[in-house]
Amino acid sequence: FIPPSEVGEDGSILAKDINGNVIPASQILAEPPETRALVAGLAGEPTYLTIKEDGTLHPWGIVDNCTHLGCTFPWNENDAQFQCPCHGSRYDDEGRVVRGPAPLPLRLAHINVEGDYIRISPWTETDPRTGEKPWWV
Ligand code: FES
Repeated sequence: FIPPSEVGEDGSILAKDINGNVIPASQILAEPPETRALVAGLAGEPTYLTIKEDGTLHPWGIVDNCTHLGCTFPWNENDAQFQCPCHGSRYDDEGRVVRGPAPLPLRLAHINVEGDYIRISPWTETDPRTGEKPWWV
C-alpha cells in the first residue's frame, strides 16, 4: 500500500501532529463525539477537526487563528465555544463570532478522510455560514 502524496495538486495536505508526523484518521476518530481535535493543517496552521455525533469528521476544519489579532484559542466544551484568551472573543461551534472584538468568522478548511488519512484543502467557495464569498480568499 502506498500512502497518498502528502501535498496534493490542489494545495491540499495530510493532517499532521505537532511533530510533523502524519496522523492516522483512525486515531482521531477513536475520540468521542463532539471532540475538537487539533492538528497541523495548511501552512502548518493549527486546525480544529470536529468529530460528529455519528463518529465521522465534520467536513469543515476550523483554523485556530483568532480574527482579531491572531491568537490561538482553546475549545471550551462546557460553553460549546472557541474562546480566545487574548481579548475575550468568542466563537460558536462552527466558528461564527458570538462576542467581539473579533470582526470576522474563523477561517475554514475542507476536511476529507481518504483511507486512514485526513486530507485538508483550501476553502475557496461560498462560506456556508454567511452565504457569501469567504473573507480570506
Ligand atoms: Fe483573539 Fe484579540 S486575538 S480576541
